[in-house]
Amino acid sequence: MTLPRHVRIVEVGPRDGLQNEPVAVSTAVRVGLIERLLAAGLTSIEVGSFVSPAWVPQMVDTAAVLARLPPNPRGRYAVLVPNLKGFRAAQEAGAGEVAIFASASEAFSRANINCSIAESLERFAAVADAARAAGIPLRGYVSCVLGCPYEGDVAPGAVAAVASRLVGLGCDEVSLGDTIGAGTPDRARACVAAVAAAIGPERIALHCHDTRGLALANIRACLDLGVSVVDAAVAGLGGCPYAQGATGNVATEAVVAALDGLGIATGIDRARLAEAGVFIQDALARARAEAARAAGTA
Ligand code: HMG
Ligand code: MG
Repeated sequence: MTLPRHVRIVEVGPRDGLQNEPVAVSTAVRVGLIERLLAAGLTSIEVGSFVSPAWVPQMVDTAAVLARLPPNPRGRYAVLVPNLKGFRAAQEAGAGEVAIFASASEAFSRANINCSIAESLERFAAVADAARAAGIPLRGYVSCVLGCPYEGDVAPGAVAAVASRLVGLGCDEVSLGDTIGAGTPDRARACVAAVAAAIGPERIALHCHDTRGLALANIRACLDLGVSVVDAAVAGLGGCPYAQGATGNVATEAVVAALDGLGIATGIDRARLAEAGVFIQDALARARAEAARAAGTA
């Protein structure tokens, strides 16, 4: 198969990035970041999550963020939800898309959402029914597709099985998360090929963390398998609070530059994207300095 002519970037920095910062930024900063991402041409933006604030306090004001965002007529503001309670909150807040997040590894499922994979799929079935009834598009994630911080290697067949279940629930798209950046190009390709055989490459998004600097190589290795959706986070923000060693997502700036180099269109203005990156890095530096002053360590 040849390379795609266009790749849709799903910007996950406002959620996957900011959820993992030791300091929470203000609602105004979250909104300011998303406005700048929109201005750069990003249309699929994951703006937050409706999860337990005891588990991820950084996302607590996601409803307030959604209330203050400008319209996004060319795309969708998506949020993560772990259960029906999160879905109801997302619906009430006017989220344009909800994402459910399962794992290919039992230990990570337990660490991240406090239940087994089977239990999570039962919860997600209830979310999927509610989303369908409300006409809200549903995205799915499979985490730890190329390695788990607790269990090590993960078999492509295990990933394909969970991805198939998510599609069966009604997910339009399944994002394959290399949560701890354990992948290599050959292994990424083998995993994506197995999932593509099960659900079709057009439903797959690549979600790479850049722990070992291989995210771009892993993405490149999968692009001629028919995949044309890539998740990325501006300024390489990110990680996962329940996966030690998970560093940032692959930077949107790097993905867009690499795709430009391959002649693949993304519709993103790189100069404006860089402005969004500088904006959030400055805001995080100020928030960290403020937290250090408050703690008496600066
Ligand atoms: P639990 O403690 O088992 O939940 O957590 P529970 O049902 O027993 O409820 C405990 C309390 O949480 C109750 O409140 C509930 O009301 C509340 P209390 O009675 O104690 O006051 N609660 C909620 N509050 C707000 N929103 C909700 C909600 N649900 C329950 N939706 C739970 C289970 C799933 C809630 C918890 O484990 C959780 O929130 N986990 C989310 C963790 C998370 O967000 N992780 C990061 C995202 S995943 C990721 O980053 C990977 C990804 O990027 C892909 C990749 O890189 O691979 C997607
Ligand atoms: Mg992630």
